[in-house]
Amino acid sequence: MSNTELAKGIYWVGAVDWDIRDFHGYSTYKGTTYNAFLIVDEKVTLFDTVKRSHMGELLRHIRAIIDPEKIDYLVINHVEMDHSGSLPDLMDIIKPEKLFCSPMGKKAIIDHFHREDWPFEVVKSGTEISLGERTVHFIETRMLHWPDSMFSYIKEDGILFSSDAFGQHYATSERFDDQVPLSEVMHESAKYYANILYLFAPLIRKLLKSVAEMNLDIKMIAPDHGVIWRSHIPNILEAYDKWSRNEADNKALVIYDSMWHSTEKMAHAVGAGLEEVGVSTNMVNLQVHHRSDVMTQVLGAKAVILGSSTLNNGLLPRMAGFLMYMRGLKPTNKFGASFGSFGWSGEAVGLMNTALEEMKIDVIEDGLRLKYVPDDDKLQECVELGQRVGKRVLEDFEDK
Ligand code: FEO
Repeated sequence: MSNTELAKGIYWVGAVDWDIRDFHGYSTYKGTTYNAFLIVDEKVTLFDTVKRSHMGELLRHIRAIIDPEKIDYLVINHVEMDHSGSLPDLMDIIKPEKLFCSPMGKKAIIDHFHREDWPFEVVKSGTEISLGERTVHFIETRMLHWPDSMFSYIKEDGILFSSDAFGQHYATSERFDDQVPLSEVMHESAKYYANILYLFAPLIRKLLKSVAEMNLDIKMIAPDHGVIWRSHIPNILEAYDKWSRNEADNKALVIYDSMWHSTEKMAHAVGAGLEEVGVSTNMVNLQVHHRSDVMTQVLGAKAVILGSSTLNNGLLPRMAGFLMYMRGLKPTNKFGASFGSFGWSGEAVGLMNTALEEMKIDVIEDGLRLKYVPDDDKLQECVELGQRVGKRVLEDFEDK
């Protein structure tokens, strides 16, 4: 069986985007893939398409198997442009008998492409269609992560086409999880979850529960990005279970930006205090860490301690931007605190505390502010702040 055949007659026909480095604000250092899948059965069926820039690659992969004009059905599991951008051109080339999508999918396709004349077949959770030897069972996954999103489960082969869920932005010539280092796949999966799915944790819990109740015999999970899960399905399901419970590790982050190194000195003193009480600590200087990498670290951290100097009565712009991004992703079940140096007004600490509270992060300190440059006594106060937060983290873990 070739590296692109998931099962007899079921093929990966997607495209690899080796060059993409930014996905609307998410850093994709390893590129990505746009996965599409072809089933050759009595009804030849294409599941999802690819970003428009990569349509040539999709067609080349399809043509290596079958003439695209022989495709009968097209299934759109998700309408975002990285999966549907090729749809208008493909509709002209393929002229499918039916275009399957969820109810919200039909609305989204029309709102994107303004073609009410396409042969829509709306399917809902539980709808099944026969392709001949195979049956497709559809599962709507509204708001995971768009209203139109759905899964397609191939019953006879136990293959779940999971749209964006369980995906990774990870360009590789390999197609399966056991052909690449597991640590890399899990890291990219965590980054994907932290930056795209974090805010939908309650819906993910419901989905995991309802899929478990369906007793599907899942042999492969084929997302629309990255490698296909066939050997490490329990790893990714357990990770989604943990992440969607908002379970954190015994770990703290000190996230900061600084003007003239005073807040930076405070940050390192806070970090020293955390380490002294035995909490694993990462120092995250926003001048050198991309927001989406910081979010990946936030996912596993129990405490988030923020530091910013005051600039123009507000926050340093990197901290302001990061907090705007983080707020949208709604991390919960964490302790928070803030600190920062100032010259004459000193609003930054209050603004950071407010932002943490709005995120429902438990702010356990009033915050530590100091004028201009810290002396040894002030740095000792920072160490003690780190120690206090660290002890709360340890107590929380001892309670469990
Ligand atoms: Fe990969 Fe939501 O698109």
